Amino acid sequence: MSLNLDPSSPEFQARRAEARKALDALDPAMQGAMAADSKRQDWFETVYKSAEDDPARVPWANLSAHPLTAAFIKAQVRGLDDLRVLDVGCGLGDNAECFAAAGAKVTAFDFIADAISWAKRRFAETQVDYRTADLFALPPEWRGQFDLVHECYTLQAISAALIPQALGILGSLLAPGGKLLIVARGRAEDEEVSGPHWPLPPSVFESAKAQGLEVVVVEDITATAQISRRHWRAVMRRAG
Ligand SMILES: C[S@@+](CC[C@H](N)C(=O)[O-])C[C@H]1O[C@@H](n2cnc3c(N)ncnc32)[C@H](O)[C@@H]1O
Repeated sequence: MSLNLDPSSPEFQARRAEARKALDALDPAMQGAMAADSKRQDWFETVYKSAEDDPARVPWANLSAHPLTAAFIKAQVRGLDDLRVLDVGCGLGDNAECFAAAGAKVTAFDFIADAISWAKRRFAETQVDYRTADLFALPPEWRGQFDLVHECYTLQAISAALIPQALGILGSLLAPGGKLLIVARGRAEDEEVSGPHWPLPPSVFESAKAQGLEVVVVEDITATAQISRRHWRAVMRRAG
């Protein structure tokens, strides 16, 4: 019998709930046993491996581009033709494919090889250049090469101690005039979070400035029919 792959179906949601429970039990961050500077690579590895090709078992895989990313792409009146886009922590590839469908030349990476091979299987005819790479050890030749760097839900999934370094790296990937687009869950500075994930506080934008980024626009988006919780959608560029 084939799996129901409709994320809104009760079957898909039941498989997701079951997987989440099992994954939470294996997650050192959920047990309060995570090292402060952990990249959580073992846990991400476990997520993709234990999913056994069922996207319902990958907690963030909704088999379509994030609505805030898709809306950003649609709103680009001059289009994305030939824009060099980098998708960070691309998972199963839906955001990367959305950029490619709009005409961008897309490179997408994730540090889990199983995620990358899965994305390539899903999009066999893809124009996206999928790579296995770690944000904290990227190919040096990527520096300064991208007109748009997009990250969705990766910063909120790594330990807070690594976020300033991650922002500095994201900024270093921008070509002159390039933009960094961040889509993440948001919270008030003093709101308690149990984590993971860890919605980003407003001070993340101060961290970005300290890493040489200029915040062009921050949208503080409250929950909508499509988006269950508060989100930031922010555009930054290299200062100066
Ligand atoms: C919460 S998921 C989001 C995936 C995708 N961006 C999306 O919106 O569906 C975070 C992704 O980032 C990847 N990731 C986390 N840390 C990373 C790192 N240091 N380098 C590359 N990928 C990373 C994970 O493997 C995972 O696929």
